[in-house]
Amino acid sequence: MSLLFSLYEPLFRKAPGSDRSTRQALLLTGSPRPSKIIEFGCGSGAATLVLAASTETAVTAVDIHQSFLADLKRRAARAGFSGRIRTCRADMAAPPFPDGSFNLVWSEGAIYLMGFESGLKRWRRLLRPGGCVAVSEVTWLCTNPPLAAADYWAAGYPAMTTIQSNLATLRSCGFDPLGHFTLPPEDWSENFYRPLEERLRHFRTEHATDPDAQTLADEEEREIELWRNHGDSYGYVFYVGRAC
Ligand SMILES: C[S@@+](CC[C@H](N)C(=O)[O-])C[C@H]1O[C@@H](n2cnc3c(N)ncnc32)[C@H](O)[C@@H]1O
Repeated sequence: MSLLFSLYEPLFRKAPGSDRSTRQALLLTGSPRPSKIIEFGCGSGAATLVLAASTETAVTAVDIHQSFLADLKRRAARAGFSGRIRTCRADMAAPPFPDGSFNLVWSEGAIYLMGFESGLKRWRRLLRPGGCVAVSEVTWLCTNPPLAAADYWAAGYPAMTTIQSNLATLRSCGFDPLGHFTLPPEDWSENFYRPLEERLRHFRTEHATDPDAQTLADEEEREIELWRNHGDSYGYVFYVGRAC
């Protein structure tokens, strides 16, 4: 894990996404100015800063890794959001907040760490009546993916499923779906994989004699190559729902 954290530390975005997609999902909530937001797996705050700028409200940003949170704090201060962005080091599987504390639960590229259903179930109680959830989740975009993609994700995230199946899960976890959309290719290529590839070149040099680091870099490059070859068969989908 520490090698993975060190690989991602200098990267602002640690998953596919964009300011535009964050704003698009916020619009789908139908409540552009929610009064209290919690974000899980915030990393360095790629989405947190957009939420703060777009809503002018308080955002609690939760992550397990302290140095990502420190990076977010610095960025929030530079953007003039110190008073509204509160960072919290905690396990998103057991959030230390009372029921009904928030009216928007947000998470980009992180719910897969618990599984889509488990994450939705654990976070549902945090919402006030009528509150919303907005999460991006890696999703099959076809029913018969190419073997290379199927094998890769069967090993990495066997619970990955289709849009229809995730919408059914959203409903079964107590949410009315308000909308969903697939992140555009540039959210992967320009915003995530291009900086990651550059970082990987430095990372390989920094850890030239560490076989574990080289293996990690190989794995990351394999993931990028898979997306280039088969990225039309899977993608990140933003799901937005209202607690019912
Ligand atoms: C793929 S990154 C996405 C980060 C950020 N949302 C973004 O798009 O840049 C997943 C994030 O989840 C955090 N994380 C992993 N396990 C966690 C846990 N159990 N509780 C809270 N955060 C966790 C990682 O430290 C990392 O910042």
